[in-house]
Amino acid sequence: MKLQLPEQIRFLANERAPQKTTDASLDGRICVVTGANSGVGLEAAKHLARGGAQVVMVCRDPKKAEAARAAVKELAAAPVEVVIADLARLAEVREAAATLLATYPRIHVLVNNAGLHSTSRTTTADGLETVFAVNHLASFLLTRLLLERLKESAPARIIQVNSQGHRFNGLDVDDVNWERRHYTGLRGYGASKTAQLLTVWELAEQLEGTGVTINAMHPGSVHSGIGRNNGPLYRWFKQQVIDRTLLDPEISGRAIYWLAAAPELASTSGRFFNLTREERPARHALDRDLGKRVFSLSEELTGLAADP
Ligand SMILES: NC(=O)c1ccc[n+]([C@@H]2O[C@H](COP(=O)([O-])OP(=O)(O)OC[C@H]3O[C@@H](n4cnc5c(N)ncnc54)[C@H](OP(=O)(O)O)[C@@H]3O)[C@@H](O)[C@H]2O)c1
Repeated sequence: MKLQLPEQIRFLANERAPQKTTDASLDGRICVVTGANSGVGLEAAKHLARGGAQVVMVCRDPKKAEAARAAVKELAAAPVEVVIADLARLAEVREAAATLLATYPRIHVLVNNAGLHSTSRTTTADGLETVFAVNHLASFLLTRLLLERLKESAPARIIQVNSQGHRFNGLDVDDVNWERRHYTGLRGYGASKTAQLLTVWELAEQLEGTGVTINAMHPGSVHSGIGRNNGPLYRWFKQQVIDRTLLDPEISGRAIYWLAAAPELASTSGRFFNLTREERPARHALDRDLGKRVFSLSEELTGLAADP
């Protein structure tokens, strides 16, 4: 008899299981990747470029962006371009969306990858808890602002780079800014990723019949720059302990390519993948009533509710 791991920890085995790949080309497709200068995002940009796509890298630091663009360009036949935006600022998310809409008459793939993990609570210029603002609200706002263009470009795919960290939970819709509770890095991260997942199910339903799909994925536990914003003790622990268990982020890029290009996923939407293996998210991230509340709260906090 084959021993099955309990549902809650099956993801640990999935990550090291064989993954799916595709030879399908992305020739002529325009793919936008946020946080594309490092780790998972850079690997995704490389894979998409190698697969023929025209890649647009949304990054916040012009110098890092240019170095990454040059590395991606070496693999690309199509143009590789950069849009600069600090996604912790809602106004800059809007500016980035406006630039993308003005520059690209078609957008076929949107990879919302930019994200961070912070051991302490900080706030953005908009007064929002930073991890929630970048990991969830920025990706929600960018997706919504590009949605009509994605529909016009259909078939199109949205990929939310989420995390098994959603299993840490921490989401309280009445306190997304962590003003009334003690903040911890894991719970703050878990809250942001849970909020993003909950809105994926809502968006998938709204997008039915449009030719635009939206899926979420865990990119593997891989080497990247995540956590470098934290203090020396955390960085030491990450380097000495966590990093020893991590995999090469190339697997993340390959999985994102599969999600962006595989023909067998043409109509798959509203799912969560561990790399390329479909998985059941934690129960709290499947609560559709909570999802509807998070969705309207996100519309309010991003200013979408007030948009004409
Ligand atoms: N690595 C893992 O094991 C792992 C596991 C699960 C999920 N993830 C998810 O994978 C995604 C990518 O993370 P990573 O591990 O590749 O980390 P990373 O190497 O630190 O990359 C994060 C990217 O996001 C960008 N970013 C962060 N804050 C930003 C902001 N305010 N505005 C614009 N860009 C911003 C970073 O830009 P800068 O370089 O300018 O900081 C960087 O390009 C995240 O969503 C993360 O939660 C990673």
